[in-house]
Amino acid sequence: MKAVQINKYGEVDVLQVNNNAEKPIISEGQVLIEVYAASINPFDFAVLKGYVQKFISQGFPLTMGGDFSGKKVDTGEEVYGTAIILGGGSGSLAEFARVSTDKIAVKPKNISFEEAASLPLVGSSAIQALEDHINLQPGQKILIHGGAGGIGSLAIQLAKLKGAYVATTVSNKDKEYVKSLGADETIDYKNERFESLINNYDAVFDTVGGEVVEKSFLVLKAGGVLVSMKGQPDEELAKKYGVTAIGQNSKTNTQHLDRLRELVEQGKIKPQIDKIFPLDQAKEAFLYKEKSHPRGKVVIKVK
Ligand SMILES: NC(=O)c1ccc[n+]([C@@H]2O[C@H](COP(=O)([O-])OP(=O)(O)OC[C@H]3O[C@@H](n4cnc5c(N)ncnc54)[C@H](OP(=O)(O)O)[C@@H]3O)[C@@H](O)[C@H]2O)c1
Repeated sequence: MKAVQINKYGEVDVLQVNNNAEKPIISEGQVLIEVYAASINPFDFAVLKGYVQKFISQGFPLTMGGDFSGKKVDTGEEVYGTAIILGGGSGSLAEFARVSTDKIAVKPKNISFEEAASLPLVGSSAIQALEDHINLQPGQKILIHGGAGGIGSLAIQLAKLKGAYVATTVSNKDKEYVKSLGADETIDYKNERFESLINNYDAVFDTVGGEVVEKSFLVLKAGGVLVSMKGQPDEELAKKYGVTAIGQNSKTNTQHLDRLRELVEQGKIKPQIDKIFPLDQAKEAFLYKEKSHPRGKVVIKVK
């Protein structure tokens, strides 16, 4: 089968399309998927560059990719989920993938395979943060950092659905885009200081990390919640400001994927795709994701 693989860690130029890759073999608790589409996440760059190599038990060649949509080979059922190698999968940038059964769900019926492949990690992340951790309520105020990104662009939609007031940090070129997703207030992260513009917020959802996390404590009211995608925020600061601070480890599991399908099928969340590339142009797709500041997701069409 065809697969996008690496034989060493490095930059995008180490990605190779292998036309004779071995078809994955499944064991108990796994299913074989015929992949129709996949999408790129920042985590795929962490795999590519070797940042997570100590967590990867198998040797080279490694098949890249996690998020996918496709069909179960045995039943033909249309599904989506993650085939990430760290979760027992065989990688989604391939014509076939091995996937753990607890990391898939039925694909939303009203969207294409490309749209479905854009959703698993970013959608699960937004649901886990806003519903499981923050429990966002109507009338509450939330600041979402990185509103034009994969996670941010879905989190804005979900926060508006819940009746919250949404401020979001983006670069100037993305202000109109995030307003079209429902954002009430936009802050240009390159030229404005969010911590001096807003305060007394109920929640912050951080998808950026670094000094953004520390400054985010300043905009929260006592009793507020900060969820970061970039590690555990400082516990001392959380105590000092009287807020709850959570470093989220996103779970792309059947429960989150089922909830995501429900929201998508009701038309309440719309997938956000910037550009679609064919599998043969995976290298170009990774370069585009790395250099072009896309809005939402970069997707790879496999079939
Ligand atoms: N902990 C976990 O389990 C987990 C799971 C999934 C993702 N993550 C992490 O979460 C992060 C976000 O993921 P994603 O898929 O949404 O990434 P993404 O699609 O690359 O989006 C990141 C967004 O952040 C924006 N940004 C960069 N610097 C900013 C700043 N200082 N202030 C405001 N916005 C800024 C970028 O805008 P520009 O393009 O204008 O720079 C971009 O729109 C990634 O670092 C990823 O590794 C963690």
